[in-house]
Amino acid sequence: MSVNVVATTPVEGQKPGTSGLRKQTRVFMEPGYLENFVQSIFDAVGGPGGDLTGKTLTLGGDGRYFNKRAIQTIVKMAAANGASRVLVGQNGILSTPAASAVIRARRTDGGLILSASHNPGGADGDFGLKYNIPAGGPAPESVTEAIHKRTQEITEYRVLEAGDVDISTCGESTLGGMTVEVIDPVAIYTELMRELFDFAAIRALFASGFTLRFDAMHAVTGPYAKAILEGELGAPEGSVMNATPLPDFGGGHPDPNPVYAKELMDLIMGPDAPDFAAASDGDGDRNMILGRGVYVTPSDSLAVLTANAQLAPGYKGGLAGVARSMPTSRAADRVAEKLGIKAFETPTGWKFFGTLLDAGLVTLCGEESAGTGSNHVREKDGLWAVLLWLNILAERRQPVAEILEAHWRDYGRDYYTRHDYEGVDKAAAEALMDDLRAGLGSLPGQSFAGLTVSAADDFAYQDPVDGSTARQQGIRIFFAENARAVFRLSGTGTVGATLRVYLERFVDDPALLAGDPQEMLAEVIGAAGEIAQIGARLGRDAPDVRT
Ligand code: G1P
Ligand code: ZN
Repeated sequence: MSVNVVATTPVEGQKPGTSGLRKQTRVFMEPGYLENFVQSIFDAVGGPGGDLTGKTLTLGGDGRYFNKRAIQTIVKMAAANGASRVLVGQNGILSTPAASAVIRARRTDGGLILSASHNPGGADGDFGLKYNIPAGGPAPESVTEAIHKRTQEITEYRVLEAGDVDISTCGESTLGGMTVEVIDPVAIYTELMRELFDFAAIRALFASGFTLRFDAMHAVTGPYAKAILEGELGAPEGSVMNATPLPDFGGGHPDPNPVYAKELMDLIMGPDAPDFAAASDGDGDRNMILGRGVYVTPSDSLAVLTANAQLAPGYKGGLAGVARSMPTSRAADRVAEKLGIKAFETPTGWKFFGTLLDAGLVTLCGEESAGTGSNHVREKDGLWAVLLWLNILAERRQPVAEILEAHWRDYGRDYYTRHDYEGVDKAAAEALMDDLRAGLGSLPGQSFAGLTVSAADDFAYQDPVDGSTARQQGIRIFFAENARAVFRLSGTGTVGATLRVYLERFVDDPALLAGDPQEMLAEVIGAAGEIAQIGARLGRDAPDVRT
């Protein structure tokens, strides 16, 4: 088999964002586009000239359209660049948390994960690719910068001239000088979950008649949820719905929130609601938690998990600390304070948790965008969050709603909502942010919609472990009435810009704990709209998505 050295020229815009490079599938399928980016990764993380001699890689994706083709290309390129072994998930499947688990368990030199997360898939949808480091987490900025730099200089890529590798059966084969090991995508992950959770207790919970619905949204978590929830834990067959991964996710938008997982939402709020329901996203790292008649916001979920984690064997020794992204509500901080453990506030994006986890400063992490995880891997983990909830429910034997209400009585409630304005004009959105930033100094003391601004800033972060800094991570406006509004632009969209407005208010009056979030937050929503002039500037009178 010979190595083809193909001359190429840089293409515009191969700049990895919060979660790797994410583009429309058609862009990824343009000749040389994928190859350029993969070679740039190899050049950045391998020896001179992309030399991967002696290196092993983990490779898999969420099964979306173009997943298998891309895997064939990457395997042939890894072989041409001298890698010694590539571990590929059977049929190209590896959820993002499972890929992180495999990288760590098998100590590979990092891995490539093919996914555009919760973005729709298909020929007209999105595709993505990211490199994870040997610790199992998303590459830090120093690495993504090096990759981006290579994409601008690239002149050639290497690919083995060979037929396709069979990735449908587990086992080893050789490709040039490289071993291709096709692995069961579920096994290593399941083993890890068995170590963390009391499977016998959860089994007993199901045996007692407890009912669950898990919506895999036709995405990658289907096989994992089937194997663990139905297989290992004895949830009746059919508890996992939309369990078969489809290249276009069945035409759906695989983002587990009350808007896109409407079928599940209707079920949990209706007369035939199960005791517990949950959903996960395209690549399996996000989660949505529901109990009969109740939606648990991701911010509240992080707080409840922090308060109860020690009920699961993997966390019985207590937690070192908890970290949340800045726009996530402060509910988890209140628990950390009571437990006497550390609390960290990081910029949006899972990569910022990596150093804290590696240094043993935190055990749990979470983001308001339905991401929750722990030190067991270096990615957020949808099914893990579901299993931790189940372990807690198996111990407490109370309805989810009761656990949540008791939590609010103990700690107070952080009412929370996020308003997204999607696909808006990029220049208008950037100007809105620039003007907000420029006007921050004059806001304190001013009143909007009945609330008074007490402080305002543009969130900056210095990593306590490696000292690296990140600036302009979101504009925070604090109100004297225990409320906050945060503005930031999405870093994961592929069309136009998305403005995210995060709104919250803390209430501890027992009479006010059972309110409706949009109503309880009406003044904060009004104040944020006035301050940023959202309607006038973006030409929108309402957000596209409220979660
Ligand atoms: C979004 C979420 C963020 C998450 C990221 C990757 O990024 O808001 O919390 O880490 O997806 O899943 P954004 O589009 O806001 O940049
Ligand atoms: Zn995801």
